[in-house]
Amino acid sequence: MNALAAGGAATARDPAFPAQALREQFPALTRAGTFIFFDNAAGAQVPQGVLDAVNQHLIEHNVQRGGRYRRSIAVDTSIARARCSVAAFLNASKAEEIAFGMNATSFIRLISLAIGQTLGARNEIIVTDLDHEANVATWLALESMDAKFVWWKIRADGCLHTDDLAPLLSQRTRLVACTLTSNALGSIVDVRKAADLVHGVGAEIFIDAVHFGPHGPLDVQALDCDYLVCSGYKIFAPHMGFLWGRYDLLARLPTFREDFIPDVPPGKIEAGTFIYENVAGMDAAVQYLAQIGRMLAHKTGAATAESLHADTRIAMLAIQHYEQQLSLELGRVLQDCGAQIYGIDTPARVSARVPTFCFNMPGILPQTVVEAAARADIGIRDGHMYAPRLMKRLHLPTHTGAVRASLVHYNTVDEIHRLGNVLRELR
Ligand SMILES: Cc1ncc(COP(=O)(O)O)c(C=O)c1O
Repeated sequence: MNALAAGGAATARDPAFPAQALREQFPALTRAGTFIFFDNAAGAQVPQGVLDAVNQHLIEHNVQRGGRYRRSIAVDTSIARARCSVAAFLNASKAEEIAFGMNATSFIRLISLAIGQTLGARNEIIVTDLDHEANVATWLALESMDAKFVWWKIRADGCLHTDDLAPLLSQRTRLVACTLTSNALGSIVDVRKAADLVHGVGAEIFIDAVHFGPHGPLDVQALDCDYLVCSGYKIFAPHMGFLWGRYDLLARLPTFREDFIPDVPPGKIEAGTFIYENVAGMDAAVQYLAQIGRMLAHKTGAATAESLHADTRIAMLAIQHYEQQLSLELGRVLQDCGAQIYGIDTPARVSARVPTFCFNMPGILPQTVVEAAARADIGIRDGHMYAPRLMKRLHLPTHTGAVRASLVHYNTVDEIHRLGNVLRELR
C-alpha cells in the first residue's frame, strides 16, 4: 500500500470551515451546474463582491486617474484604498511598497531588468528547477548583462531543501529567485530559512508567491524577503498582478519611467496605465477574505483598515487547515486509483503542500485522463505546467507532462470523489 493510502480516509468534511456557504458567494460556481473547477492554479473564480466592485468602477468612474474632477479623484481614491488593502494582506510596512500591474511575469521581468543593471562583482543569480518558467527565464535573460547562473535543484522528494542552498551562496551572489510554492507539485519552500541564508552573504531574495497566494497567510515581514510577486487572478480577483518590495530597495532600483514620473515607489514601478477596475476587484477580494476571517472569529461591527491584516490572516489560516483535509483526501483517492503522484505523497507531510497535485495514471496519456475528466464535467489540466525544467527532472516528456488537479477553499471532498470515479473507470 502506498503512503497516502496508508494514512486512511481524511475526515470527509471540516465542520468548522463553511465551504458550502462560501461557494454561494461565487456566481460562477452556483451557475456552473455540475461542472467542477479543479484548474484553479491557472486562475480562480471571483466572489460577488469582486464582481460588484469591478462593475461599480466601470459604471461610476471609468476615467483616467490624476484629473481634478470628481470621477477622476474617485479613481485615485480607489487605487489608494486597494494599495492599503493589499499592503495589509501582505503585512507590508508601507502601502507604497505595493505596485499594481498586468501580471506576475511582467513584474519579474521589470525587477530583473533593473537588477541586471546593478550587477558588479556580485553577478550570480540563483534560480531553481522547481519554479514556474516565469521566474527562471526572466532571470536567465540577464546573461547578456553578464549575469552568471547557479541552480538550486530539487531532491528526489520533489522539494527544494535549504541545506542545498547554503553551499551555493557566496560573496558573488546577487539574488536568489525562488518560488514559495510549486505551481506544479504544490510543495511549499521554506523561504524564511532561505532568506536568512541569503541575507547572511549580503544578497537578496525574490519570492514568487503566485501559487501560494490563495492557500495560506502571506506576511512579507515574517518571510523577511526582499521582493515578492502575486497574481491577483489566483486570489479570487480579476486578471492583474501585484508586486511588493522593500521600500529602500525599490527606491534604489533603476526602472524605466518617463522623465516627469518621480523616481519613487510605487510610481516608478507602474509605468503606463494598468487596469483600474481589476485593482478595485483585488481590493474587494481582500475584503472577501477579511469577511471570512471576521465571520470565523465571530467579530461584529464594521471592518476597520487596522484589523485587515489580522482578519485576512484568520481566514487564510482556516483556509490552509481546510485545504489540508482536501490534500489528504485527494492524495488518498489518487493513490487508491493507482495514480503516480509527483512530489509530497505522505499524510505526515501534508502541511508542506497545498492541494495542487501533479500525477499520471500508469500507461495512460495525461491528455486522455484530462479528456475523460472533461467528459465528466471536471476541469483539470495536462502538460508541462509552465515548468518544463521540472518535467525533465521528473523524467516526463515536456510535450505530454502530467495531469494537474488544483483545488482551493471552495472545492469539496464530494468533488474529489467525482474525480476519483473518473480515474477508477479509466483504470
Ligand atoms: C508559480 C507561478 N509563477 C508565475 C506565474 C505567472 O503569472 P502571471 O500569469 O501572473 O504572469 C504563474 C502562473 O500560473 C505561476 O503559477
